[in-house]
Amino acid sequence: MNETLILKSRPVVESLNDKHKALVGHLKSKNINPSLTVVIVGDDPASHVYVRRKGQACEKLGIVSDTIALPADTPESALLDLITKLNSDKSIHGILVQSPMPKQINEDHIILAIDPKKDVDCFHPHNVGLLVSGNPYMQPCTPAGIVEILKYYKISPEGKHVVVMGRSNIVGKPMANLLVQKKQFANATVTVVHSRTNAIGEYTKQADILIAAIGQPHFVTNNMVKEGAVVIDVGMNRIDADNEKGYALVGDVKYDEVFEKVSAITPVPGGVGPMTIAMLMENTITAAAQQGGITLD
Ligand code: GUN
Repeated sequence: MNETLILKSRPVVESLNDKHKALVGHLKSKNINPSLTVVIVGDDPASHVYVRRKGQACEKLGIVSDTIALPADTPESALLDLITKLNSDKSIHGILVQSPMPKQINEDHIILAIDPKKDVDCFHPHNVGLLVSGNPYMQPCTPAGIVEILKYYKISPEGKHVVVMGRSNIVGKPMANLLVQKKQFANATVTVVHSRTNAIGEYTKQADILIAAIGQPHFVTNNMVKEGAVVIDVGMNRIDADNEKGYALVGDVKYDEVFEKVSAITPVPGGVGPMTIAMLMENTITAAAQQGGITLD
């Protein structure tokens, strides 16, 4: 039996970093200093870890970054005022407000307030519309990162049946939209299943490529995958554990159980997670080039 391929993101990120460093250098030679501002509201520890990693990634590539941390009781109006200020600051090319936000803040209002040109998450309806119509300005970070993993490991989704588990605006829906595009490393037949799908395993068993993004630890079991399938695990679930931290990070897939059966699988951690940040860097570079009137190939 063939060995299962572990789809680690490290070499993919390293190769993207080289490309991104060169692009940042090119922009700087044209007097454009790519710059990202990340806003985080509240004290969610996991979100603070992700935001710190975004700042570190910027630093590594020479992208200017700023993190604005606001208290958990920040009113929506104050956050909207801050976004207005960031929108009009010409030295800032990308704006990201970390999700989830405290309950007094309506995330839709925040997404709508961000200038679509600076929307490095690709969450604004303007950018979602461009993606759906096949003319994207920005790529949704996590889904685009998954496509980069597939490209790096030469796993083409063309003509394959991809089953996406989850219908979030961050992963499930944009993932499906990317993979049905009429272009290279897309052209897939896509099924989206979710929490209200009856007999979900009947669909997942048919997947050539299974993308699990449902936020349920160890939901996908051995009997839910097809022999030889490629499994992409987007889950990053904290579960209680008897260790120093008191928790462990696990995916949506029972990795040990499905490992022998599948042909390739992303690990958690070290799989999809770092790709989101790499693609955020790419979007910041795209935004800086666009706002500086430069075309990148
Ligand atoms: N929270 C978890 N993932 C993301 C992301 O990609 N963007 C934002 N803004 N918040 C997140």
